[in-house]
Amino acid sequence: MANETITIVDNRTNQSYTLPIYHGTIRAMDLRQIKTGPDDFGLMTYDPAYMNTAACHSAVTYLDGDRGILRYRGYPIEQLAEHCTFLEVAYLLLYGELPNAVDLDCWSQEIMAHSLTHESVKKFMEGFNYDAHPMGILISTVAALSTFYSESRNVHDPKIRRKQIVRLIGKMPTLAAYAYRHRLGLPYVAPDPDLGYAKNYMNMLWKRLEPKYVANPVLAHALDVLFILHADHEQNCSTSTMRAVGSSNADPYSTTAAAIAALSGPLHGGANEEVLRMLAEIGSKDQIPGFIQQVKTGHRKLMGFGHRVYKNYDPRARIIKRVAEEVFEVTGRNPKIDTAIELERIALSDDYFISRKLYPNVDFYSGIIYEAMGFTPDQFTVLFGIPRTVGWLAQWQEMMEDPERKIARPRQVYTGEDKRDVVPIELRVPKTPLVLA
Ligand code: CMC
Repeated sequence: MANETITIVDNRTNQSYTLPIYHGTIRAMDLRQIKTGPDDFGLMTYDPAYMNTAACHSAVTYLDGDRGILRYRGYPIEQLAEHCTFLEVAYLLLYGELPNAVDLDCWSQEIMAHSLTHESVKKFMEGFNYDAHPMGILISTVAALSTFYSESRNVHDPKIRRKQIVRLIGKMPTLAAYAYRHRLGLPYVAPDPDLGYAKNYMNMLWKRLEPKYVANPVLAHALDVLFILHADHEQNCSTSTMRAVGSSNADPYSTTAAAIAALSGPLHGGANEEVLRMLAEIGSKDQIPGFIQQVKTGHRKLMGFGHRVYKNYDPRARIIKRVAEEVFEVTGRNPKIDTAIELERIALSDDYFISRKLYPNVDFYSGIIYEAMGFTPDQFTVLFGIPRTVGWLAQWQEMMEDPERKIARPRQVYTGEDKRDVVPIELRVPKTPLVLA
């Protein structure tokens, strides 16, 4: 569009600057020319938590939080959840197009062939305490994979990058299932590639003594849909971590481990676990008004509500609510769904939530399904991390091919002491006494 510029007048100097606007953004580096004099460093933007800063170009996921729209590579999430499998969507995210039947078959076989792990992985799994949180196990074991595939350090070779991508997608369910069975003291179950991605994961989790595990098709489909819904979500906290760590040319295993660590926090992927604990604590519907009051007075957070980008109903939460009913046909109704629905109803008619545009997010209903399927809350974030690995890798790959790529390195506004001289230790007076833990 012609004349896509902005003119800024610096009132300190009365100088005016005309900057180009590109895709609704100005380049932060264009601000550097705005100076009060030759010794001035130049203007920077201050944006803690990146509330209004685009850090990359991306063609992977489109998200319009005001209108509640989510698309992967242009396809609406609703259509992908209805018509595609998770591995089809994984292919789409990574390669930009949906596969045809032949490509999908090759892709699925390739991913499943990489579901095996080195035997040593089982040995260091053994080192974890029986009650170790599975996200801690996942972070560590994914990072440790880099020690098995030393070529992965060559992040500039597209072929080597691709190999690590299929390895990571293939192995993630295996590591997650091992972490689960380790806690229960059950022997690890080898992957069964014939079963496909979701059913094989269920096999590795729940197989006992039967010769061949048979997954319930409704539950397997529900898990596959949940995987699709969690596969990518543009520049969220863990994906930005993936890009930041990857920008240093770290290998993809270490980089993915960092992304998993970001995901584990209760404000991000860890929220699904917190939602279940919150619902258990609320207990029954009659306790909801009291709980909402605590939220409104700032004593609690309504976990699974609110989003940095969505200021409308999260489209994933709508699909998950529908999937929940399908799952309950098989498992029986999880009574927490009724508490959750009532909580949502009350919250969405309360001015506190309306005025702040707080709606249920992806984590509000997912844990209720997982619990009905037999997962314990500490597994929920792992169930988020398995499919999100695809999104992280798609974004990592995109970043590695971006000609504008540089190591991520934000600036700061220094607010500390001015220069001062070291005082000998015997003359130093502590300002506040140190309390040792
Ligand atoms: N319960 C109660 N109040 C809330 C909530 C909530 N869940 N979320 C936001 N608010 C209030 C917040 O206190 C603030 O109020 P005020 O303007 O009076 O100070 C206002 O809404 C704006 O919130 P914010 O913290 O500035 O928003 P943010 O964009 O920085 O945070 C969020 C987004 C997701 C961290 C936050 O909404 C939250 O903590 N939600 C609960 C945790 C959660 O469900 N996380 C999962 C996010 S979706 C999946 C994922 O990304 O992993």
